[in-house]
Amino acid sequence: MSTPSPALPGGAWPLGDLTVTRFGYGAMRLSGPGVTGPPADRDGAVAVLREAVDLGITHIDTSDAYGPRVTNQLIREALHPYPESLHVVTKVGAQRDEQGGWPVARRPEQLRRQVEENLASLGLDTLDLVYLRLGDAEGPKPDPIAEAFEALVDLRDRGLIRHLGLSNATADQVAEAQGIAPIVSVQNMYNLAHRHDDALIDRLAAEQVAYVPFFPLGGFSPLRSSELSAVADRLETTPVSVALAWLLHRSPNILLIPGTSTVAHLRENTVGAGLALSGGDLDELEKTERQ
Ligand SMILES: NC(=O)c1ccc[n+]([C@@H]2O[C@H](COP(=O)([O-])OP(=O)(O)OC[C@H]3O[C@@H](n4cnc5c(N)ncnc54)[C@H](OP(=O)(O)O)[C@@H]3O)[C@@H](O)[C@H]2O)c1
Repeated sequence: MSTPSPALPGGAWPLGDLTVTRFGYGAMRLSGPGVTGPPADRDGAVAVLREAVDLGITHIDTSDAYGPRVTNQLIREALHPYPESLHVVTKVGAQRDEQGGWPVARRPEQLRRQVEENLASLGLDTLDLVYLRLGDAEGPKPDPIAEAFEALVDLRDRGLIRHLGLSNATADQVAEAQGIAPIVSVQNMYNLAHRHDDALIDRLAAEQVAYVPFFPLGGFSPLRSSELSAVADRLETTPVSVALAWLLHRSPNILLIPGTSTVAHLRENTVGAGLALSGGDLDELEKTERQ
């Protein structure tokens, strides 16, 4: 069991028998433009990862599809051998093509190969948490998931995976997976302006299952709203800080994995997410237009 840093906002959350800091780090931004190829500043990327661990972060989100392979190789270079408290979690279900696309790859043999590739690139014998990434770049799709999810359950039973999760999933797919085997986390797109999963978050919180919003800051289209700006101005802080703090307030099962390629933003975010929001601030933020 890890000992999360008391300095990080939000405290800790259990992922099965593991514990992670609710403030984590999303490593996708460490690969090159379009999530393809190496970063312009390799030393800077390594510095961000080492700073994350120095700050006490124990949850790093990655995928062998980032680069591809680039992000996992950077994580290994920067942090291997990993501290016992650190949990590097990954996703399978999509590959990269020559055009930088993300074609679906969810047949059992493709999933097995992706798990083996993640183990090799990260230098691990077991992956602490593997998400089955569903849908496509447009979002979740209501496809059946049993064959793919059962393939990961098999790899878990063989000791290659410790815990399972779903990503880019519908609420029905979450329920379908839970009918097959326990999951410890769901990772979907969610932020102050993109709230399709409100009901799902509340259901998962009641079941003690984590919800990890990807694009917490809007991803490639930075999150903006007049309410966010007004609250940030009033509290003399930034909209980024308010957006992260709002997510930690939203539900105790929400784990943050904001992405950044700079040490300065990483440090800023670990402070900003701890911002105290009043009932009035939360009421104002609730008026943000939904996308
Ligand atoms: N499951 C999935 O399908 C899926 C899809 C997408 C992403 N993800 C995961 O989710 C994580 C988060 O998503 P994301 O990184 O794409 O988007 P994000 O966290 O919403 O936003 C990242 C962007 O915000 C900027 N930023 C961060 N801190 C900032 C600050 N303090 N001030 C100003 N700008 C700031 C970053 O720029 P700088 O680099 O300049 O800081 C970057 O452009 C990814 O790293 C990945 O692990 C999962």
